Amino acid sequence: MTIITKNIHYLGVQDPSRRTFDALMHLPEGTSYNAYYVQGSTKTALIDTVEPKQSAAWLKELQQFTKHIDYIVSLHAEQDHSGSIPEVLKLFPQAKVVTNQKCKDMLKEHLTLTDDVFMVIKDRETLSLGDKTLEFFLAPWVHWPESMFALVQEDGVLFTTDFLGAHETADKLFCQDRLACLSGAQRYYAEIMMPFRTQVKKYLELIATLPIKFICPCHGPIYDNPEQILAPYREWSADTPKNKVVIAYVTMHESTRIMSKYLAAQLSKQGIDVDVVDLEIEPSGQLSMHLVDAATLIFACPAVLVGPHPVVASAAILANALRPKTKYFGIIGSYGWGHKIAEQLTALTSLLTVERLTPVFAKGLPKPADFAALDTLAQTISEKHSTL
Ligand code: FEO
Repeated sequence: MTIITKNIHYLGVQDPSRRTFDALMHLPEGTSYNAYYVQGSTKTALIDTVEPKQSAAWLKELQQFTKHIDYIVSLHAEQDHSGSIPEVLKLFPQAKVVTNQKCKDMLKEHLTLTDDVFMVIKDRETLSLGDKTLEFFLAPWVHWPESMFALVQEDGVLFTTDFLGAHETADKLFCQDRLACLSGAQRYYAEIMMPFRTQVKKYLELIATLPIKFICPCHGPIYDNPEQILAPYREWSADTPKNKVVIAYVTMHESTRIMSKYLAAQLSKQGIDVDVVDLEIEPSGQLSMHLVDAATLIFACPAVLVGPHPVVASAAILANALRPKTKYFGIIGSYGWGHKIAEQLTALTSLLTVERLTPVFAKGLPKPADFAALDTLAQTISEKHSTL
C-alpha cells in the first residue's frame, strides 16, 4: 500500500505481462489497474476495483488492509475497474456502490448487480466521509458515456478514471520524469481519448477550475504535479495540427516502400517533419500516436485482388475511428493490372474531415513519371501546410 496523501492510499495492481487490451491495443509496458482507498474520520470509500483476472491476490491484500468499507465508488463501468465489485461486495456486504444512474444501468448489465446495492449520485453531488468530502463530476465520453471524476475536496486529490491515464506499470507510483511518462500517456490518449477531443478539452477546462494537488487515473502513474499531464493534454487536444506528415505503408514487392521513402525525402526537403510507419512490423499504436498531431496522413498501399492491401484497410478503419485532427489525406500505391484502392480507402475513411489530395499510383515499380507525380504531391502538401 502506498500513501498518496493523508489517509488516501493506492490499492491497485500492476499487470506487467498483459500484452493487448480489447484485443486491439498493444501494451509494450503492460498496464496497471489503479484502485484507491479514502479513509475519512467516519466513513471509508474504495475508489474503483481491479481487472477480475487479477482480483484473487488483490482481494486478499484488501482484506488485510481494511476490515470495513462503507462505499465502493465506481467511476467507470468498464470491467477492468468495475469487474471485481461483486467479489468486494461478498467480502464487505454492507458496502454501497456509489455511482451515477448511467453507470448503475451499465453495471447491472455487465455484472448482474441488483438495485439494492447502489447509491446513485448526480453531477456535483457530495458525499461526506467525516473529515473528507467526495465531490462527483459527471464526465461522459472520456471514454464511455457513464464516466465520472471524484474529488477529495480537503486534499485536492482528483480521481479521473481512464482520463489522463496510461497503459503502463510503474516501479514508482508517481510520475518521476515528465518525458518518460509522456510516451505511454500519448499512446493512451491516441488510442482511447482522441476520438473524444471535444470532451477532452471541456474536462481540461473543468479541471483547471478545481483546487487539485494530485491527479489519480485508473491506469499508469499518479501525478503530484498535475501540469505534468495537463500541459501535454492541452497540446494534444488543441485544434491546430503540426507541420508533420505521417506515411503509413505496406509493401509486397518494394514499390510502395520506394514511393514512401521518396515522398518522405521530398517532404523533408520542404522542412516538413515526416514519420514513415511500416504497418507490417509496427503495432497500430505507432500510427495512432503519429495521428495525434500530424497535419497530413498518407497511406501507401499495394493492390491485393484489386482492392487495398488488408493491412492498410485495417489501418484506415482505425484512423477513421480515431477521428484525428489531420487536415489532409493522400493515397499512393502500386498495382499489377488494375485496382480500386482509392475508392475503397476513401470509403473506409469517410468520417475523416479532411481535404483529399490527388492519389498517385504506379504500375509495378515507380517510373520517372510516378516520381514526378510524387514531387507534385510533396509540393502540394508543403503549400497546404504553409497555411496551418
Ligand atoms: Fe480502463 Fe475504459 O477502462
